Amino acid sequence: MNIFVQCGIGVAAVVGAAVTFLTFERPPIETVQRGFRGTAQELVYTTRAVDRIAARNVVPEADPPVDPIGQKSSEVYENVQVLGDLDAGQFIRLMAAITAWVSPEQGCNYCHNPENLASDEVYTKVVTRRMLQMTKAINTNWKPHVQETGVTCYTCHRGQPIPAYVWSTEPGRSSSMLASSAGQNVVSSAAGLTSLPYDPFTAFFRDALPIRVAGTTPHGPDNRASIKQTEWTYGLMMHFSQATGANCTFCHNTQNFANWNDAPPQRHSAWHGIRMVREINNTYIEPLTPLWAANRNGPPERGSATMSRLGPHGDALKVNCASCHQGAHKPLLGAPMLSNYPELNAVSSQLPRSASMTPR
Ligand code: HEC
Ligand code: HEC
Ligand code: HEC
Ligand code: HEC
Repeated sequence: MNIFVQCGIGVAAVVGAAVTFLTFERPPIETVQRGFRGTAQELVYTTRAVDRIAARNVVPEADPPVDPIGQKSSEVYENVQVLGDLDAGQFIRLMAAITAWVSPEQGCNYCHNPENLASDEVYTKVVTRRMLQMTKAINTNWKPHVQETGVTCYTCHRGQPIPAYVWSTEPGRSSSMLASSAGQNVVSSAAGLTSLPYDPFTAFFRDALPIRVAGTTPHGPDNRASIKQTEWTYGLMMHFSQATGANCTFCHNTQNFANWNDAPPQRHSAWHGIRMVREINNTYIEPLTPLWAANRNGPPERGSATMSRLGPHGDALKVNCASCHQGAHKPLLGAPMLSNYPELNAVSSQLPRSASMTPR
């Protein structure tokens, strides 16, 4: 045999092996049947991926409940605007918990001037009032999504002042050859490392563009379901799958992606989740932007990482499905952390005094 042919076979074998081992996960795998037999509504898991997800979702032990001391925190403390109805003992239990959830390394001083705990001079304390109200809104207004499991600060923060999974508007890229890349052809982890549009989040999690590929009307001027729109939808769907650690059949009957009637209940849950994420971003996070603009690198001299609090366009770091889910079908694999912290549902929904919302 000709030496070149042998070489060719050798190269082909190496390439073949690389494709096989890099493209597919090694066994063992498990398949779970989730729909009627014959509908191919199956989920495929690799046991290793399941183990990785379990290791990342260990829940910290809850502090033991404290006996009420019989006085409201508004009677004991000077400047409580959203936690005034809490018993003063439960108030301190909550302070300890949020420290462990958000700034365990930096401690109480991440939000406080230790000389004067009533002062609002550290902006993170002002941010926290709205984070408390946001957490309560998620747990009370968005039960169709979070059910009784609910969320705490830890669901997103996991012991870090800035949650690990956040997004901001990506700067548009264009070249001299192409007028606009239509937000595309830049490999982006947001879109599952494909060349689908690299920022599906601004369109769907700040704005509310329709998430569609199939038109609901025959061809005509009203049919907005273009190929471009389809690609944006798929970019978002890649994110859904990555964030929840599940494939498309977790939420769809692949016989007809658009059909709601045969879709598993998870698709309905996701529908509410999309609307919840928009409210989190537009009602709670965006309006705090001036505070972060004035403190781009976090509180001064409090040992925080110098990661920027704003994206390249100057917008705040916002929430997507991964902020809570972090690769699990339910955040923290469904651990009901909220049930140990009823204090989080006693937060007042009244806006904190506007004077304290402006940066100093
Ligand atoms: C992540 C931010 C954050 C951390 C960390 C934090 N606090 Fe607070 N603290 C707040 C906020 C916000 C308020 C005001 C609550 C309100 O307006 O209802 C507050 C208020 C207080 C008050 C009331 C002061 C007054 O007289 O008005 C005390 C006391 C307090 N915190 C103690 C602590 C202690 C002790 C720790 C550490 C174990 C701690 N805090 C950690 C955010 C924080
Ligand atoms: C749904 C996800 C989510 C939940 C739940 C959540 N946060 Fe946040 N939080 C964020 C995001 C996203 C940011 C980053 C915004 C930025 O930096 O632009 C943030 C920022 C903060 C900051 C500012 C940190 C800094 O260094 O600038 C504080 C303080 C904070 N959160 C406290 C809390 C507390 C306390 C709770 C619970 C009562 C809570 N958060 C619940 C998403 C969340
Ligand atoms: C976590 C649940 C979830 C996962 C996982 C998911 N989807 Fe979706 N998908 C939805 C929801 C919800 C909608 C409808 C959104 C709306 O109407 O606001 C949707 C819409 C769609 C549509 C548009 C249908 C129409 O009406 O035109 C297509 C196509 C689609 N998904 C394909 C996929 C593909 C392909 C995957 C896997 C890469 C996937 N989805 C993964 C929940 C999911
Ligand atoms: C604020 C935190 C948070 C965010 C953000 C979030 N989720 Fe969830 N999600 C939860 C919680 C908590 C549950 C568990 C509810 C329960 O116990 O059934 C859940 C459950 C789900 C389920 C049902 C899982 C199952 O096993 O039945 C789906 C599907 C889902 N989320 C999809 C999404 C999608 C898609 C997004 C983004 C559009 C999203 N979630 C954003 C907190 C969140």
